Amino acid sequence: MGATATETKAFGKDYHGFEPFKLNDPFPSYKELREEAPVMWDDRINMFVVSRYEDVKGVFEDWETFSSKDAQSPIRPLGAAAKKVLSDGNFTTYSGLSARIPPEHTRIRAVATKAFTPRRYKVLEPFIRDNADRLIDEMIAKGMNEGDILTDLAYDLPTITIFALIGVPTDMIDVVKEWATSRATLTWADLTDDQQVPHAHNMVAYWDFCQSLVANAKVNPGDNLVTDLVNLQSAGEEITDHEIASFLYSLLFAGHETTTTLISNSVRQLLIHSESWDAIVEDPAKIPGAVEEVLRTAGSIVAWRRTAERDATIGGVDIPKDSKVLLVMGSANRDPQVFADPDKFDIGRENARNHLSFGFGIHYCIGNMLGKLQTRVALEELTAKLPTLKIKEGVQIDFGDNLSFRVPLTVPVVW
Ligand code: HEM
Repeated sequence: MGATATETKAFGKDYHGFEPFKLNDPFPSYKELREEAPVMWDDRINMFVVSRYEDVKGVFEDWETFSSKDAQSPIRPLGAAAKKVLSDGNFTTYSGLSARIPPEHTRIRAVATKAFTPRRYKVLEPFIRDNADRLIDEMIAKGMNEGDILTDLAYDLPTITIFALIGVPTDMIDVVKEWATSRATLTWADLTDDQQVPHAHNMVAYWDFCQSLVANAKVNPGDNLVTDLVNLQSAGEEITDHEIASFLYSLLFAGHETTTTLISNSVRQLLIHSESWDAIVEDPAKIPGAVEEVLRTAGSIVAWRRTAERDATIGGVDIPKDSKVLLVMGSANRDPQVFADPDKFDIGRENARNHLSFGFGIHYCIGNMLGKLQTRVALEELTAKLPTLKIKEGVQIDFGDNLSFRVPLTVPVVW
């Protein structure tokens, strides 16, 4: 029999240095959590915080006990003003896949997988390479021998890619990127009621746009993912227009935000550990292993949510039905029980790919290969064109405040 929820609440009062929304350097506090309170109640967010690898993986695996139904609900419940904006704007979506549960999740994921094949995006590789080349050349052409990987390369590349895949005009990049930022902010940041309102307006515009993509594909089919989904529907696959639009609503967010971060963090980590950068310049075959190690040590998403569907235990601690659970993958990925010398950045680490940065189980990231493909191509082009790249000294790299998404605000480089 584990500790009761009340006892756990009492233990958790000092929080062991854990600040849920502060992501500049959360790793020392993760270590304390793993050692002192691996399953800790946190009053500030009303969740159990789970930090050991085995527990995090076990919860991801047991989707019947720990459902993802609340994985996308706002951390701070929406205020009246933001709610009114959403209802006046007929905002009726919630999640494409990640917060849906079986059998609905199984049905939609099966259709999505048919359209979203590795072959579909493998043919995108030359397109990704051309765009990576062009963006790097433009950064170099500014003639200052310095740039910012985040704004000069990582911001645009995944957006151009996912837009091409889905079939969205490229002149929409900035506006959709802004909507996606609003989605992350409204859901996972610590906002006041007033701060929520402009983001709610963006969500209405974003949802209208997703619905218009589906309507348009019906009259104007193209060689793209929306058309594939519409064709699958016509061929008898069970998926509604609303579900297709909701899947696009997911992809137009999940399909670039996290990859922008992965490319940025890859360059940042590899340059900070400059011997690793030199190693991939020398031998580009080491890039895929390096990307796995970046995902392990600096994942784009450091924590993800589940809800207990019934009374359960995690790591010996009782978890009452309806409790919210925060799975800290950023901590699990540095658990010494699984990864030897876990704080060491080692691009040759054999089990790096066992990280949990893409989740685990039925919701395992559907776009993981596309995210890694783009990061590999970006690194191949960067190391070939700018082998002497270095991180700019004297600039502190901060990360945005967020419960889940650990995003560097700049990655300044010189060459
Ligand atoms: C490259 C960095 C990426 C990271 C770190 C990442 C991470 C994640 C995580 C943590 C989940 C939740 C897994 C769970 O609940 O078990 C997820 C799900 C998902 N991701 Fe990704 N992702 C990335 C890229 C992408 C890309 C490029 C796409 C689309 C093109 C994508 C689409 C999705 C979708 C649709 C889901 C929901 C799957 C489901 O519930 O069945 N992701 N991702």
